Amino acid sequence: MYYIGLDIGTSSVKALLVSADGEVMGSANPEYPFQTPKPLWAETDPDVWWEATCKAIRSLLEEVNASEIAAIGLTGQMHGMVALDSKGKVLRPCIMWNDQRSFRECDEITQMVGQSEILRITGNPVLAGFTAPKVLWVKNNEPEVYSSIDKIVLPKDYVRYKLSSEFFTDVSDASGTSLLDVGNRKWSTEMLDALGWSSQWMPEVTESTEATAKISEEASSLTGLAVGTPIIAGGGDQAAQAVGCGIVREGMVSATLGTSGVIFAQSDEYRVEPKGKLHAFCHAVPGKWHLMGVMLSAAGSFQWYKNQLGSEEQNLEDNGGPNAYDSLTSAAETVAPGSEGLIFLPYLSGERTPHPDPHARGCFIGLSVRHEKRHLTRSVLEGVSFGLNDSLELMRNLGVNPKEIVLSGGGTRSNLWKQMLADVFTSRCTMVNALEGAAYGAAVLSAVGSGAFASVEDACNQWIKQTEVVEPSNESSSYDKYYSIYRSLYPSLQETFRALSEDAST
Ligand code: XUL
Repeated sequence: MYYIGLDIGTSSVKALLVSADGEVMGSANPEYPFQTPKPLWAETDPDVWWEATCKAIRSLLEEVNASEIAAIGLTGQMHGMVALDSKGKVLRPCIMWNDQRSFRECDEITQMVGQSEILRITGNPVLAGFTAPKVLWVKNNEPEVYSSIDKIVLPKDYVRYKLSSEFFTDVSDASGTSLLDVGNRKWSTEMLDALGWSSQWMPEVTESTEATAKISEEASSLTGLAVGTPIIAGGGDQAAQAVGCGIVREGMVSATLGTSGVIFAQSDEYRVEPKGKLHAFCHAVPGKWHLMGVMLSAAGSFQWYKNQLGSEEQNLEDNGGPNAYDSLTSAAETVAPGSEGLIFLPYLSGERTPHPDPHARGCFIGLSVRHEKRHLTRSVLEGVSFGLNDSLELMRNLGVNPKEIVLSGGGTRSNLWKQMLADVFTSRCTMVNALEGAAYGAAVLSAVGSGAFASVEDACNQWIKQTEVVEPSNESSSYDKYYSIYRSLYPSLQETFRALSEDAST
């Protein structure tokens, strides 16, 4: 038998076909754009995800017979607001996780409920990326849409609905809505009542390994999957990514260099950072939680940089030369830690951890005529590493002291970046065999949910193996001075960022 892990990502759907012993047997990755029609906005038409999902599944089913698929596990970008009417029709484009328009609504909700109550109930402050302030933004700005809302679903749960005509979500993804009672793993009537929203709007919430729905006849004809194939609840992409890296026991920590950057720590207890600076969410491991720091532009900063300043390297790649990212990072290897006094702030889409500020912006500080492109490249990698270290420091202050940190995500293709992370974190870093990220975690959850393993921990023991160890080098302490300068920059620029962002939005 086989399992399918399906990740409804920001820019593509990733579908993985995984065998009963955890081998990746096939994958499909159709891409789609998202739109930024105004400053601070990020939207996608949910039906674009659905079309890409059908295409991806059809492509996997060229390798195996549909009757051999034991179950499907879902994961996806978190926090997105998909609003549906009573016929299940999408009312407006999804307002995505990286959309920052709802900063005023965050203040409105905070005043309505009170910051300490919100922290007590949801484990987190209300942040512009989260779902509830987006719904309030629709109420304040698109009353005709608001009045037709019958269901609010997260991106992967919209795809579940299209696959099965059923509404479900899981506790890890629901944790990012500001509407979940995270300690008790159920929708918060206190939050919903305060906002005047019907609990009927919210899909039923389950643990991530529950079998929720089954492939419908209509979805079967569009995807080729067999009618009745079980769909396991799955998880938000970060919880699923962590499962795919084997972060399923107390104190284990991972760092992910994807478009966003994440430091993730499993926790057996429900723990909240006193000021709510780290996300406190349910894990995809039943009955467990996690703490998480999220940077909005991690490898995304490097992608932006390559797209804007790496055309020479891209041309080389397009003409059969080395990968453009590899050309940039090998030049950056010739520069010493600290990039000769150049610091990059990676707040290209605003920031969440440790500065929950939609107006924060990116910058290079310390440029001089001596700096060349290789210095700029290195400072981008260093700035992102420092940003991740900010989250790790918050966790260390809460007593999380991991023996090692499991690295994952596209950025880890660079040896320079992996070594830099070990040096900046002053911690051993490791890699595991499962390089397919959240989609692989969703496949693990589907194997557990369909009864192949007794627990997520058992499945990870069987399927996930360490492949690489990176120890901190003797350059580790060279970063100390630059990290402390980096930390001093955001507070001194905060007001400037606000003024610049307001100027751009008018
Ligand atoms: C997590 C987060 C992102 C998105 C997109 O809180 O906002 O990781 O889920 O990947």
